[in-house]
Parts: sequence; structure tokens; C-alpha cells
Amino acid sequence: MNTPHIDAKPGAFAQTVLLPGDPLRARHIAETLLQDVQPVNRRRNMLGYTGQYQGRRVSVMGSGMGIPSCTIYCTELIREYGVRRIIRVGTCGGVGEVKLGQILLAQSASTDSRINRIGFGGHDLAACADFSLLRAAVEYAEARHLPVRVAPIFSTDSFHDGDPGILGHLRRQRILGVEMEAAGLYTLAQREGVQALAILTVSDHLESGARLSGEERETGLGQMARLALECALRA
Ligand code: HPA
Repeated sequence: MNTPHIDAKPGAFAQTVLLPGDPLRARHIAETLLQDVQPVNRRRNMLGYTGQYQGRRVSVMGSGMGIPSCTIYCTELIREYGVRRIIRVGTCGGVGEVKLGQILLAQSASTDSRINRIGFGGHDLAACADFSLLRAAVEYAEARHLPVRVAPIFSTDSFHDGDPGILGHLRRQRILGVEMEAAGLYTLAQREGVQALAILTVSDHLESGARLSGEERETGLGQMARLALECALRA
């Protein structure tokens, strides 16, 4: 079976997919946290794998950067491969009082992208996480004292040279993180009737300019991937 962007056999993906932006992170998660791993996609080097986590079949695949790339892959995973649960694991820029290394569970994702308005008659859609995934993530993380915070975030189309006034708006609305995919993922998941959650490590602070080291990012990725796998078992 072939979709325009995924070259995998029918049934190659599990119903749950972890979705980092970077395909090499997908490979790292598969190699370090899954057992019996099979590679399932290589088209455009958007590496995808399926394996087992605690006896459950799970897949992991890169999404690329930005809402268009992420929603292309997710649409095809949902419609053509029967995926029912997508957990993005990524990084975000922090705003306001958040600390570097903190893990944000994105309850809602506002955006400067027009994609949600295009699919919603020009109106503003409230892009929200799946409640049972969010609850499972909170319960697991709190029981283990992981540094998580449930937060509203913002998905931007511009990494460079975006709206120069955006930080003031984000602070005023108490939005704590900026990334580039969740608003599209949440909207698509709601429309398709599947579950989605974005789990994001604060990798840099947009006001102070502080950044995590490579090693600290790696630790964050491991924590998020394990959290994502555990909440997929429970949701
Ligand atoms: N902007 C958008 N996406 C990001 C950022 C950022 O500052 N940091 C990590 N992902």
C-alpha cells in the first residue's frame, strides 16, 4: 500500500503512533524504548518504526516541521493505516514563568496558521487535546514527580521573522509554549474522531534566550517518550 507520502504495507502501523518532528528522534525512540522493532517507512527519510512496548504494539514516526507536514502524515496515518491515537513528542520555546526542561502537556493550541479557519467556515476553532490522554499523562507524571505542567500553547507558522508583537499577546493570554504543529494535529484528530496529545519539553526560553544543552534535550526526549508510551497504555 502506498499513500502519497508513506510507503508502508497495510497494517504496518500500530493504532498508537508517537510523533516526534525529527525522524532521527523517531529512530532513537524505537531503538531505545521499543522491542521487536521493524522499520515501516523510509519515504523522504521520514523514518517510521513499529515495535512493542510492554506487550503493546506501538509505532513511532517523524512528522517533519510545521502544521502542513505534520497534518499530511497524520491524515494518511489515520485514514489509510487506521491510526487512532497520536502523541506528539517535541520541543517548544518557553514564554513567561516556565523553566527550561519543564514538560508542557498542551491542553489547547492557539495558532497564527489559517488552516483551521479554512476547514471551519472562517471561524475560530478551539484546538484541544484529547481529555483521556491528557488525564492519563497528568496522572502518570504526577505519581512520578515528573516536571510537567498542563498549559495552553501556541503553534506558529513562522520560526524566523514572525509577528514581532506576538510575545506580548502570548504573555497576556498566559500561553507558556510556542511550537509549530499541535494546533493542526488537534484539529485534524477532532475532525477524524481520534485521540491526540502534544507533550513538549521547553528547550529554549523566548524572552531570556536561555537554551538546553544537547544532553539535556536528549534527557527531555527520553522522559517525554516514556511518558507518551505510558499514557498510551492507560488512555
Ligand atoms: N518557535 C517555534 N518552535 C519551536 C521553538 C520556537 O521558538 N522552540 C522549539 N520549537
